[in-house]
Amino acid sequence: MRILAIETSCDETGISLVEIEEDKRGEPKIKVLQELVSSQIKIHAPFGGVVPSLAKREHQKNLPILLEKILYTESDVKSKKSTSFISNSVIQSIDLIAVTVGPGLEPALWTGIEFAKEIAKEWEKPLVGVNHLHGHMYSFLLSPAAKKISTKDIFPAIMLLVSGGHTTLALMKNLHEYKKLGETLDDAVGESFDKVARLLDLPYPGGPQIEKLATEGNPEAIAFPSPMLQKQNFQFSYSGLKTAVLYYVRGMNGGKDPWSIERKNKKNLSRKNLADIAASFQRAAFLPLVKKTMRAVKEYQARTIMIGGGVAANKELGRMLKSEIKKQKTKVSVITPPIAYCMDNATMIALAAYMRRQKKKKYPLRAKGTLDI
Ligand code: KG4
Ligand code: ZN
Repeated sequence: MRILAIETSCDETGISLVEIEEDKRGEPKIKVLQELVSSQIKIHAPFGGVVPSLAKREHQKNLPILLEKILYTESDVKSKKSTSFISNSVIQSIDLIAVTVGPGLEPALWTGIEFAKEIAKEWEKPLVGVNHLHGHMYSFLLSPAAKKISTKDIFPAIMLLVSGGHTTLALMKNLHEYKKLGETLDDAVGESFDKVARLLDLPYPGGPQIEKLATEGNPEAIAFPSPMLQKQNFQFSYSGLKTAVLYYVRGMNGGKDPWSIERKNKKNLSRKNLADIAASFQRAAFLPLVKKTMRAVKEYQARTIMIGGGVAANKELGRMLKSEIKKQKTKVSVITPPIAYCMDNATMIALAAYMRRQKKKKYPLRAKGTLDI
């Protein structure tokens, strides 16, 4: 099955052409034929976060360009002059079009949906709506580790989905069945990285910046709270941690809010100090993720932990998890997708469309910002 997938839920425009088949043992065989992601980070960075109207404008501009590039590159008759002829052969080979319908920014989601509807009508192809979170959930299939083993040896698995909008723990019984165990009660962990980065005067997106700065700092330097750590449930909370960092930075700044102080006056916040804040915050943020993931592993006797979403790109999270596995002497393997597939992309949307194609519950072709897993 050849799937053309479209992703526009936030600030990345993605289009992928993916071929997925099942082998004799029922294992999915994935061939990424073409994939493109156009990031809008530079456009949103001056605003310290994603501006929905700008995201919409950029998606509108990028989608036709990416599609043409994908069709052209995929064609094996590049020497032919006529682009329309080239595109036609590729278009004919497409079986299904998939588009993210939520969660995300609704103006951004609508752009992808309208675009997908237009091409589906013009090419007379079936079109399905996809849950972005299912994309992150299935992105583990794109890791070299998952390709080597039978998916039957992976389950039951605990899925830790950590992104700018979500912090969710789920039990995956097999490739098609899952159960949500818990989630954040307020901010998402990625969101807290972005907010703390702003406090520290680091550019958007904050996650990679904090990770880099934290390598120079001492994670034990400041005792930030790790909310929900002791609670015997699978819930998370990040707004308190962000506030604790704010109070700390304020304290260091003579009681003034960091953003009310001119940069040149931030005398009390040395590079070492900022690095200690970043490292201590990062550790406090990851501790509940690690502890609760391990609790879920024990409770459900999971064989694998899968991490997905933008925060999964953070190497320290993987290190902390592996060190806890060693400490607890638990037999569980960790699968993290390559960094490009932790971030938003359309290839994972094609996978989710394929994996969930037989499900009774179909998503309407309508943007839903708050769509749940
Ligand atoms: O999955 P994603 O690309 O978009 C959403 O669906 O939200 O995740 C983006 C989030 C941002 O909050 C970003 O700061 C965070 O993932 N992130 C990281 C890292 N790289 C991206 N957080 C911590 N460490 C990183 N290395
Ligand atoms: Zn995402």
